[in-house]
Amino acid sequence: MSNSKAIKKAVLPVAGLGTRFLPASKAIPKEMLPIVDTPLVEFAVREAVEAGIEEIIFITSHTKRPIEDHFKRNQELETQLLSSDKKDYLDRINLKEYEGVKFSFIRQRDQKGLGDAVLQASHLINPDEYFAILLADDLFDGTPGITSQLLSAFESHQRSIIAINEVTDEETKKYGVIDGEIISENLTMIKEIVEKPQSNPPSNLAVTGRYLLKGSILESLKTIKPGFGNEIQLTDAISMLLKEDEVFGLKYKAEKFDCGSREGFIKANIHFARKQKIII
Ligand code: UTP
Repeated sequence: MSNSKAIKKAVLPVAGLGTRFLPASKAIPKEMLPIVDTPLVEFAVREAVEAGIEEIIFITSHTKRPIEDHFKRNQELETQLLSSDKKDYLDRINLKEYEGVKFSFIRQRDQKGLGDAVLQASHLINPDEYFAILLADDLFDGTPGITSQLLSAFESHQRSIIAINEVTDEETKKYGVIDGEIISENLTMIKEIVEKPQSNPPSNLAVTGRYLLKGSILESLKTIKPGFGNEIQLTDAISMLLKEDEVFGLKYKAEKFDCGSREGFIKANIHFARKQKIII
């Protein structure tokens, strides 16, 4: 990858209310709920680090303190593990892969939507710089990870790229939906993007929670008005980006679990428990 456009920063918005997981998410951020024994958010962080990301910028809220604690050292626990016969667990709380990775935490004051969450990182990203966004709710099992897949496509095109997948007609209501020109088997040049179309979706290609975007999108986010659900929508800012630049959609190769829903969360737990041979 050319150094001038290497993507090294990722924004992880984790400030949402997690209403669908109440009461579990009342005192514990839903991103800290475990898939087997690993908090959901850790999967997205590992995926980003595997792809070469060196700075993880969490957008949190005042109720999400455990996420901050999780990515900081816990000296007391480490000392206890060291002085007991549980040293093996040290590697599970201090992942070697995270050495050299910077974690920053910015609080979103009011939950005004995903677009507003991403906007909170605007002082850390230059308009010409490309950066990644990962929504931890969307959990993928794929090799290489889906962020690595997006970065490979970025190397060839040096333009914004978002992960897309085919969904049923009924499901288009729940997602951002794109329309565009098919460039190759997996790549589409996006012409149109609509947030949660309640009728006449432009296609069956839905946006999933992984994006590589040009930093200038943050300028657009400053100007847009609340859209669907009265929230500041990232989709509306991508729609503005389309007017000035090419944006691609990549059909990824991975199994997806929508862990923002109870069904997806349970399925992910069963999938990874089987994979780790904890259940048959
Ligand atoms: P969702 O739309 O899934 O909302 O957000 P949510 O609050 O997490 O969950 P429900 O719908 O209440 O159950 C998509 C992503 O955007 C983040 C969320 O944390 C999630 O990663 N988000 C959403 C924010 O960070 N801030 C917001 O204001 C809204």
